[in-house]
Amino acid sequence: MTDIRDDVTIGFTAVFGHEPDGLWSAPGRVNLIGEHTDYNLGFVLPFAIDRRTVVGVGLRDDRMLRVASTFADELVEISLDALAALTPEDAGRELSGWSAYVLGVAWALGLDEFGGDLAAVPGLELFIDSDVPVGAGLSSSAAIESAVALALNDVWQLGLERPALARVGQRAENVAVGAPTGIMDQSASLLGVRDHAVFLDCRSLEGQVVPLGLDEAGIVVLVIDTGVKHSHATGGYGERRAACERGAAAMGVESLRDVSVADLPRARELLDDVTYRRVAHVVTENQRVLDTVDTLRGVGSDEGSPSGPLAIGELLDASHRSMRDDFEISVPELDLAVEVAVEAGAIGARMTGGGFGGAAIALVKLDDLSRVQVAVDNAFSEHGFSAPDTFVVRASDGAARN
Ligand code: GLA
Repeated sequence: MTDIRDDVTIGFTAVFGHEPDGLWSAPGRVNLIGEHTDYNLGFVLPFAIDRRTVVGVGLRDDRMLRVASTFADELVEISLDALAALTPEDAGRELSGWSAYVLGVAWALGLDEFGGDLAAVPGLELFIDSDVPVGAGLSSSAAIESAVALALNDVWQLGLERPALARVGQRAENVAVGAPTGIMDQSASLLGVRDHAVFLDCRSLEGQVVPLGLDEAGIVVLVIDTGVKHSHATGGYGERRAACERGAAAMGVESLRDVSVADLPRARELLDDVTYRRVAHVVTENQRVLDTVDTLRGVGSDEGSPSGPLAIGELLDASHRSMRDDFEISVPELDLAVEVAVEAGAIGARMTGGGFGGAAIALVKLDDLSRVQVAVDNAFSEHGFSAPDTFVVRASDGAARN
């Protein structure tokens, strides 16, 4: 962490010739459970991780935005007036590459729905570095958007609350980057609290934090990054979203949030097999999020029944099966990681994030950690898959100045 902050100060100074006026940072996230439920207005339970993006910001006395990073050897420049004049179609076409995440946020802050009037704000210099792995399903993009949104909100004194900043980041992702994603990643990055998960109702956008209790239980969250790269701006993600919308329309509801597990027999009669299975995943996944929250909190269960993180393994496993068999967004590497981790003693495991590649998570007792890591490494090698990157993450605080 200190390293990245130092890198940003050094990089900023090298590019712009003076030190930044301030540093802001925001984390990536792991989703504990609740996948592809956010854009169906359901429930999610992610947490912010101890991998962050840091942005250094300097004020200018003109109206230029100048953006550099460690991601590419280029300095991207645009005037605030040119940015504010972009229609959504223009923004999608003209903002591209890594800087679309940054400039997309500045552009979104100018939209009426965010009270945005960029006519009077000063230009800025920004320099960005990150240790959130890219393409691993840990929301490296939301970490950039959230760090930049918080920084711009502060330096431009816009007065937006964090839930609104999450929507700004989502808008940047949807319009400038062109990925039809939901609100989960930016919410986790902005609302995260150390040792807690963020329980978000994606309809009301009300968030609550839920203690994970991992330290007390002697367990950790192991990330298994398969190295299989994915992009949500193309293909599968949008198709799944469209199938959910089709299913909701056929069931006569505004969103799948309004379909419960008890409605599934009726859904099976109404829908074709593929659409039914997509709907079944979302509906059962919403219930699994609620069950996970109750189990972590130790409420809603019979007296004496298990609670806390040691008791959520089966819910994680069921979530993975649902994504593998019904939503069909897993890949062989993720299935292998999950299967082997559980065989080697993990309490539960599932792929995390949008799917089609990226990472799995496993909940592992500290005593079993190296056994699980070795088993996964060996299995990948036996199957001829590239070696995965495995590392432990801690639930961390969300975006902050410094
Ligand atoms: C990606 C999207 C999120 C969410 C997940 C799937 O991470 O950015 O909005 O839809 O996929 O749960």
